[in-house]
Formats: sequence, C-alpha cells, structure tokens
Amino acid sequence: MAETVSMEQLVSLAKRRGFVFQASEIYGGISGIYDWGPYGVEFKNNLKTAWWQEMVYQHTDVVGVDSAIIQNPRVWEASGHVEKFTDPMVDCRKCKNRYRADKLADLDTADLAELSAALKDTKCPNCGGALTEPRPFNMMLKTYLGAVEDTATVTYLRPETCQGIYTNYQNVRDTTRQKLPFGIAQIGKAFRNEITPQDFLFRQREFEQMEMQYFVHPDEADKTFARWKQARMDWHQKYLRKANLRFREHGAGERAHYARAAWDIEYQFSFGFKEVEGVHNRGDWDLSRHTQYSGQDLSYFDETTKAKYIPWVIETSVGVDRLALAVLSDAYTEEEVKGEKRVVLKFHPDIAPVKVAVLPLSKNDKLTPLARAVWQQLAGRYNSEYDETQSIGRRYRRQDEIGTPLCVTVDFESLDDQAVTIRHRDTMAQERVKVAELDRAISDQLKSF
Ligand code: GAP
Repeated sequence: MAETVSMEQLVSLAKRRGFVFQASEIYGGISGIYDWGPYGVEFKNNLKTAWWQEMVYQHTDVVGVDSAIIQNPRVWEASGHVEKFTDPMVDCRKCKNRYRADKLADLDTADLAELSAALKDTKCPNCGGALTEPRPFNMMLKTYLGAVEDTATVTYLRPETCQGIYTNYQNVRDTTRQKLPFGIAQIGKAFRNEITPQDFLFRQREFEQMEMQYFVHPDEADKTFARWKQARMDWHQKYLRKANLRFREHGAGERAHYARAAWDIEYQFSFGFKEVEGVHNRGDWDLSRHTQYSGQDLSYFDETTKAKYIPWVIETSVGVDRLALAVLSDAYTEEEVKGEKRVVLKFHPDIAPVKVAVLPLSKNDKLTPLARAVWQQLAGRYNSEYDETQSIGRRYRRQDEIGTPLCVTVDFESLDDQAVTIRHRDTMAQERVKVAELDRAISDQLKSF
C-alpha cells in the first residue's frame, strides 16, 4: 500500500517502466538531476494540464505567462535572493562532507545561533569528524552571459519562477486590462544548488514549479490567503488521499525572507510528512522592491476609491516533480491476485500517462486487423497503446504498472459478434461492449474511477 511504499520501490518502478531516469546516466549520472521518460513526460504533462485547467481556466481572474529562466541580474538583487536565498550549512573538517545544518539538527529554523547551539555536540554522520560552525550558503546557480567570463556578465538561473511574474505585472495589466484583484500563473523550470539533493524527485537541483501570484489590496490579503490555502488543499485531494495530506504553518524563524505568513501543504511520503506546496502571503515585498530597484512605479491606482497603493501578493507554489513523487507514492499499490503479486499505479485517469490499451488476446493474423482497427478508432481521442507481444496476463500487468485505467481486449468471439472486453484496472471487472459503442463506454468508464 502507498503508506509503506519505499523509495527504492518507486525509483525501481520509475526506471523499469520509463517514467524517470537519472540524467546523464551513461556517464554515471549527476546528483539531483533527472530526465523524464516516455510515460513520465505524459504523466508530468497531465499534472501540469490539470493544474493549469484549475488555476487559469477555472479562475477567470487568473491569466498565464511564460517568462525567461535568465533575467537581468538586478531582478535577483531586488528579490532579495542574492543576499538572502541561503541555506545554513556545515562542513566536516575531516572528510569535507557538507550538510544542511537545519536537517542535521532536525530543527525548522535558519537561525545560525540556534543551529550552532543545537549542533554543539554533533559529529559528522559520515566519519565522526568535527563540524564547522553553521554558515549561509547561497543556493542560486550562477552563469555567465556573453563571451567574457567576468563579473560584469554574471547572472543566475532562476531559483523560483514567480519573479518573472512580478517583472511582467505591469505588462500583463496593460495588455489584459486586469483590475485588482487578479492573478498571474506560470509553469516552468527552477534551479537551486541544493547542498544535499535527496529523496529522488523530492529535493533536486533542477525542477519545475507551478506558481500563481494573486495581487490584492492589503486589507483583502488575509481573507484571500485563507481562500487560496483551502482551494489548493481541495485540489490536491483530487489526486492524493486525504489522510496523507495536512497543513503546517511555518514558524517565524523558518519563513523565507519575503513571507509574512507561510503554510505548507504536506504529503506523507515514506520518509514522513513533507512540503509539497507552499502558500505564502508575500505582502508588498516583491512589488515594492522591484519599484525601488527598477525605478518603475508598480503601485496601483483604484479608479473607484481613488486610492493608490502597492498590491500585496498571495502566492501558491507547488513543485511539479515533488508533486509527481507524491502522486506516484499515493498511487502505488501491491495486491495479491491468484497467489501472484500485482503492482498497480492507481492514478486518477486524468493524469494516467496512457488512458487505454488495446490488446488482442494473442498475436494472430485474424485478430490483428480488427484489434488495430479498434486502436485506430481510439487513438485520436485518447493517449492509447497497442500491444500484442507476450501473454495477455503479462500485458495486463504491464499496463497495471504504468497505471492505464482501461484495457480493451479483442478475442476470437470479437470476429463474430463485433464486441470487445473492457477491463477495469482497479477492480479487474470486465464488460463486453459492441465496437460501435466503444467510445461511449470508455468515456463512461473513465468517469467511474
Ligand atoms: N516562490 C516561492 C517558492 O519557491 P518554495 O517553498 O521555496 O517557495 C515551492 O518552493 C515549491 O517548489 C515547494 O513546495 C516544492 O514543491 C518545490 N521545490 C522547492 N525546492 C525544490 C527542490 N529542490 N526540488 C524539487 N522541488 C522543489
């Protein structure tokens, strides 16, 4: 069951079935960086589509953007990331291993004095050597633009996607004539030089975020925060079991430099309840700082009340890869069927990489043309697969392992009655339907999960 699925089982399934591979694997990999395989990319795209549908299409006051990964370096001075985007680290004086001080101390704080006290008697977990004092480590990945590698050309790969939203706030308002309150959503890559990337997709150095920034009058901030916090929890409950989700509020010492209030939506991974999404009240931090650093006035003038103010920002921020890991953990199920182990990914059909697989009972000259015709009938509407190799039982197991909700089996009777069997992934129940009625039956069955 999901509660007991180990990271090893997930990593092994993800690789075996073409969801996730270690990046540069043929060169021994690269720490904290992963590639997505054929089923993985479908699964991840489905998660992103589900989020976009919810955040942008369901909310008529939210529009999307797709901003650049590399921005003017002043953006990161204004945002506070050059100065403050740090994790506390300690080094082992003997073996030189590096650790996140807060993780080693098991304390949710970035306060160096507090961490120093907590780690006073702690030795290196690797070799038992003495540790340095905790000190801040900036997590932004630097790069150089232009031909000369000097400080004049230094810039950064974005550590969060939302700064490209703030820098476009005025452009979006001008072009869409949005009035406050309104939101801007974005999905895209983010990069962090994590001291200790770990737990597979959980803490990576290159990952994707789905972020929404909602601009409000300061007086509306608390109410709006509460509304988005609940809306995001409700969304997660469509794809993750309620019992595996909870809220956690950040303590003052733990909050990021921009946050006035911060709550995590946590999922119960095999290594405990951990953050999947952050909901933050960023106050006027971002637009004030960008006003100050760019010299462009980003305040808002309300035509009705004639009030002028810097909007406050309520942010929802979820990592695609971390969410994918949560959904994989939640969907992973082992069952015993007729004395054999069956591994099933019980995905919600919306996010399953393949929706339906067409399987002739056996590889046979008579069955193949009909089965291929059935596949053609479905292929344009659903991401579907055709498979005729190996025994039918093994093909069902393969589809179970990638979470395909429905399998359509074409057998010898089909040649006479022009009917096929639909097999339900979770119940394994089978229903006989006419080929002519297949589209309707599949669409109905997909709704039954
Ligand atoms: N703009 C706000 C922000 O970036 P965050 O709490 O640092 O806030 C938001 O990150 C989300 O991004 C997290 O909840 C997590 O899902 C994801 N995330 C952050 N760091 C990550 C990492 N190293 N690997 C994978 N996902 C990460």
